[in-house]
Amino acid sequence: LGAIDVDVSSLTPGMSLTVKWRGKPVFIRNRTDQEVAEAKAVELGDLKDPVARNANIATDAQATDLDRSAGAGKENWIIMVGVCTHLGCIPLGQAGDFGGWFCPCHGSHYDTAGRIRKGPAPENLAVPTFAFVTDTVIKIG
Ligand code: FES
Repeated sequence: LGAIDVDVSSLTPGMSLTVKWRGKPVFIRNRTDQEVAEAKAVELGDLKDPVARNANIATDAQATDLDRSAGAGKENWIIMVGVCTHLGCIPLGQAGDFGGWFCPCHGSHYDTAGRIRKGPAPENLAVPTFAFVTDTVIKIG
C-alpha cells in the first residue's frame, strides 16, 4: 500500500535524494566510504538510542552501522524517514557536529548513520520498509 519506486542510478557516492512517501520526506543517501567508516567506528555504548529503528529487521536489533544501512553489500546506502524524532522538523543533510544530519529547530545532531548523537531528539531517524528491486531501483513501502 502506497509503495513507491525510486531510481537511484544518478546518485554517485556523496549524493542524496529526498522523495516524498506517505506525505513525509524520505532521505536516500549514497554514502561515501569515509561516512561509512565514521559510522562504523562509533561504539554502541556511545549511542543515545542503541536500537536500530529499522523496519526491515528485528525491532530489538542494535543500531550498528550495518543494521542502519541497506545491509551487507549495500552498506553505502542509507534510507530514512526525514523527520526529526524530537518534534518532527526536517533535518538538514551533511550538517551538524557528526557530519550527518542536523535539525535546526532545537539542535539535534545525527551522525552519518542517522543516529541521534546530541540534542533533544530521543530516537534515531526511522528506517522505513524498503527493498532494492534492481541494483538501481529502491521500492519504499
Ligand atoms: Fe528536531 Fe526539535 S524537532 S530538534
